[in-house]
Amino acid sequence: MFETLEPAPADAILGLITEHANDPRPQKIDLGVGVFRTAEGETPVLDVVKIAEQRLVDTQRSKAYIGTAGDPSFNAAMQTMTFADAVDTDRLMTIQAPGGSGSLRVAASLILRARPDATVWVSDPTWANHIPLLGGAGLTLKPYPYYDTEKHVIRIDKMLETLRQVPAGDLVLLHACCHNPSGLDPSEDEWRAIADVIVERKLVPFIDMAYQGFAEGLNADAFAVRHMAGLVPEMIVTNSCSKNFGLYRDRVGTLSILSADATSRDTVYSQVNNVVRTIYSVPPDHGAVVVATILNDAELKAAWRVELATMRARLREMRVLLNDALEARAPQHDFSHLVRAVGMFCFLGVTADQVARLKKDYGVYMVDSSRINTAGITAHNVNYLADAIAAVL
Ligand code: LMR
Repeated sequence: MFETLEPAPADAILGLITEHANDPRPQKIDLGVGVFRTAEGETPVLDVVKIAEQRLVDTQRSKAYIGTAGDPSFNAAMQTMTFADAVDTDRLMTIQAPGGSGSLRVAASLILRARPDATVWVSDPTWANHIPLLGGAGLTLKPYPYYDTEKHVIRIDKMLETLRQVPAGDLVLLHACCHNPSGLDPSEDEWRAIADVIVERKLVPFIDMAYQGFAEGLNADAFAVRHMAGLVPEMIVTNSCSKNFGLYRDRVGTLSILSADATSRDTVYSQVNNVVRTIYSVPPDHGAVVVATILNDAELKAAWRVELATMRARLREMRVLLNDALEARAPQHDFSHLVRAVGMFCFLGVTADQVARLKKDYGVYMVDSSRINTAGITAHNVNYLADAIAAVL
């Protein structure tokens, strides 16, 4: 039977990990996959995670199955971190999921059960895996304008104009913060305008929050979620703990659903748990218990917030560093959008051909769209990087 298959193409983002690893050049730079890196180029386990893991080793008594919804103390802590007191919790449910991707996949199945004809509107561009993941699950997707590749700004008017034409009942996939790939988020006023159209058109916000704490801080980054939660009857939110807790491979996330009332919430909860059973049965436990240990301990939580702030500050510093280095080498080109962006990513703003030359001639790896992970920049490699970019411009 397998002779019917053709080899699948390498993943546009994850494929770069192997390509970069196989490159023998010592000066190579990885600006590909979205993982945080220190000034030394490492992706360490956070100190608070190590402490929480040690506690678990000492105290955890069982690895027996956990229920389809996962750990209640983790779900409650994540729900509070996401929504604070923006909405009546009687209308909310949160389940643990295997990372942001697992959460998106469960959401897709739920949408298909509830409203199979709905279209999910996604930003143009969006995270490279949104379309294969949600489309592969069976959802219909259509783009709304988001990023102006010439001016490096959000096309807010075009976005709103498109959303005003969307049929009632469709869903709008939004990035809560640190838009991936552009790094440009709507301002609070722009979020208000987006929310107004969503309410007016009776659309369902579907918010992916993969980087809470990486833009401005835990509360500021939840503005869109909390603001919309106060206005709409129904909403879907997916969270990831990959970046803000550095738990990438442990697969930790949540799926939260806001329903019109408590009765509807209970129905949705039963459906979501039924979906989980038919996909992966129960979620992985380890990373979620680590997060719950941290969030439910005031001291560990405070220490985590400091580590998170350090990661956030480093990303910001590296953007400034690269922008300065490019300004010195290529003053005729405007790279100021690097500094206007937030979080891990932004577009460098070069062509696919220039991206290919950066890889071939200089060992500088980034996604074909010229999305860069700013955590790959260090004080040691920024001059080499800026020289390479200036050379291909
Ligand atoms: C990214 O966009 O690089 C990250 O979210 C990792 C991934 O899974 O694509």
